[in-house]
Amino acid sequence: MIKVINSVDDLAYQKWDVLVPTMGALHVGHQSLIEIAKTKGENVLVSIFVNPLQFENKEDLNNYPKTLEQDIKFAQAAGATAVFIPDESTIYPGEIERVSAGEIGDLYEGASRPKHFTGVLTVVKRLFDLVKPKAAVFGEKDFQQLFLIKRMVSQLVLPIEIISAPTIREENGLAISSRNIRLDKSGEKISEVIYKALTMPTIEQAKNEISNEPGFKLDYLEIIDEATFEKAKPDTQNKRVIIAGWVNNLRLIDNMPMGIRK
Ligand code: PAF
Repeated sequence: MIKVINSVDDLAYQKWDVLVPTMGALHVGHQSLIEIAKTKGENVLVSIFVNPLQFENKEDLNNYPKTLEQDIKFAQAAGATAVFIPDESTIYPGEIERVSAGEIGDLYEGASRPKHFTGVLTVVKRLFDLVKPKAAVFGEKDFQQLFLIKRMVSQLVLPIEIISAPTIREENGLAISSRNIRLDKSGEKISEVIYKALTMPTIEQAKNEISNEPGFKLDYLEIIDEATFEKAKPDTQNKRVIIAGWVNNLRLIDNMPMGIRK
């Protein structure tokens, strides 16, 4: 049986090779993170904590799906050694020093979700301090989050390897996310435009795809430099297209290396 850990003292019963931080509502995307973690080390810990600091509004936080029993079984089936399910007072026992996401934290996702990335970095740093893993796995789907976590680890010189895991997609190309269950049939159809746009050879063609789908309300579509998260220049080595928008009020985000053809 998988071990369920709730307290910091119980965490210390062994050394953790790899941490997979999650907010629960586990799905096949998380399964792949856990499977990648297993290839990196024997003792894999999945944390489940819905972090209030990274939600801009209470309603979003309260509506976040909570499926703990299922999540525990799911983590076990995917091969995790244990799940860490702390309560809020364990993660934030008092005034915790916030880890600022800086200017890049205010762009793109951060522009629509003020303080979101500071909340993410603060909780990830706290989890790292408590678990002290050798490595941690994060999905490429949240590319800006991944970028900021890597930068934090490098700036704070934390002895933790950050492993990035490729995005898992539905058959129609839609990146798998806990939010997708809130899409109805018409929403699913509309959301196909995201993958279509991402796989266009030029940004103009991508924009054209988007403008042909009135059901998709675009927030941003940009080509960035993967190394700096700044807007890509013609001579940028590794370009990535990032996109976000709303389908029936549901925010969806995705990204892909530039120039990946269908
Ligand atoms: O990507 C997520 O699920 C969350 O942002 C994370 C990294 C678990 C921090 O709460």
